[in-house]
Amino acid sequence: MSTSALHQTINNPLDLAWVRQQFPSLKLQVNGHPAAFLDGPAGTQVPKQVMDAVQNYFLNANANTCGAFETSRRNDATIASARAAMADFFNCDTDEVVFGQNMTTITFALSRALARELKPGDEIVVTTLDHDANVAPWRALEEKGVVIRQAGIREADCTLDLDDLKKKITAKTKLVAVGYASNAVGTINPVAEITKLAHAAGALMFIDAVHYAPHGSIDVPSLDCDFLACSPYKFFGPHMGTLYGKREHLLRFSPYKVRPAPNSLPDRWETGTQVQELIAGIGAAVDYIAELGRRCDPSAKDRRSALLAAYRATRQHEMTLLAQLIPGLLTIPGLRFFGITDPAHFNDRCSTVSIRLANHTPAETAKFLGDRGIFTWDGNYYALNLTERLGVEQTGGLLRIGLVHYNTSDEVDRLLVALREFAS
Ligand SMILES: Cc1ncc(COP(=O)(O)O)c(C=O)c1O
Repeated sequence: MSTSALHQTINNPLDLAWVRQQFPSLKLQVNGHPAAFLDGPAGTQVPKQVMDAVQNYFLNANANTCGAFETSRRNDATIASARAAMADFFNCDTDEVVFGQNMTTITFALSRALARELKPGDEIVVTTLDHDANVAPWRALEEKGVVIRQAGIREADCTLDLDDLKKKITAKTKLVAVGYASNAVGTINPVAEITKLAHAAGALMFIDAVHYAPHGSIDVPSLDCDFLACSPYKFFGPHMGTLYGKREHLLRFSPYKVRPAPNSLPDRWETGTQVQELIAGIGAAVDYIAELGRRCDPSAKDRRSALLAAYRATRQHEMTLLAQLIPGLLTIPGLRFFGITDPAHFNDRCSTVSIRLANHTPAETAKFLGDRGIFTWDGNYYALNLTERLGVEQTGGLLRIGLVHYNTSDEVDRLLVALREFAS
């Protein structure tokens, strides 16, 4: 995998007890069972710090931006501070960070803006592995004559077929849109390498990092991508989306905007009044991850170093859980596994897996588990190209189990026991 964070040693392992104390909702009980949140890919739980920041906005800073009075100034400061946090998160400058309603809405807005410079016959490459939020906004440009080409997968392990992708990128390609990690099967794509291919063909690179963001650190300078989007509610923050864009592109492309709104960066991309209370929560989410990092590496000097330390520790914890989960799943009779199972290739996956049980639909399996306090997800999770390609779309899709850093070995055990019971 491409981030250095995954290859360095860590000072202290994850302090799981401390982590779980930060998340009040992890104490929930369902039908007499402790809730096991294995639904992180659909949205993670939030630490107390995020709740406090949202409340603090309403108590002390609830006003629109740029007013000549105290609460408005506080709101401006909160937004600036959240933007600085996201700049550390992406490793970019603050004017390259755009906030928006969610990744899908941001990506549709971006595709409309890019379309102003596209002509019929221009091509965009998407993939079979991606969430539809990184497919539909580009497919929408077909009505302008843009041609969409779709790179395939290797079905055996649900990895991208890079040979096919290379063939699909041609002199006509204007944009390559690829996910950093699959929200369905957990595959991590070699996005830095794909960016080089895109740039060699004169195309822009858009990375959907929504699924990757809770699992690995993001370093846009080393990726060299042109755009990268992710959603704070997948990395312990509130329900919003964020976009990194290279400054030159954010200046050059023209978003649709109202005339009185500033034309400067990044404001021109943030249409209308933002969900300011949640932007406050985004800053707190990044600071929570940094706090975790400082506990793992007290020598981390700045927030960026602390974020990297946190991701080294969370990655190690998630891989330990994965090494328990996958072999356990593979012993369950009638279980079909989708994605990488070989530990030698775990560097190419994150801790999200999809399965099916023979004789049970994913919805039935999710209900059985849910009744026992184990929260998983069934269906296509909007990774529609993939469920269609795997031939499971008509029969209920897949069952997804997502592990993040607050999950425990006990939760994995409970899941395996329950699945074994249901399968037998
Ligand atoms: C990989 C991936 N991309 C994009 C999205 C869409 O993100 P949002 O809900 O912020 O629009 C999701 C949501 O599940 C996702 O998992």
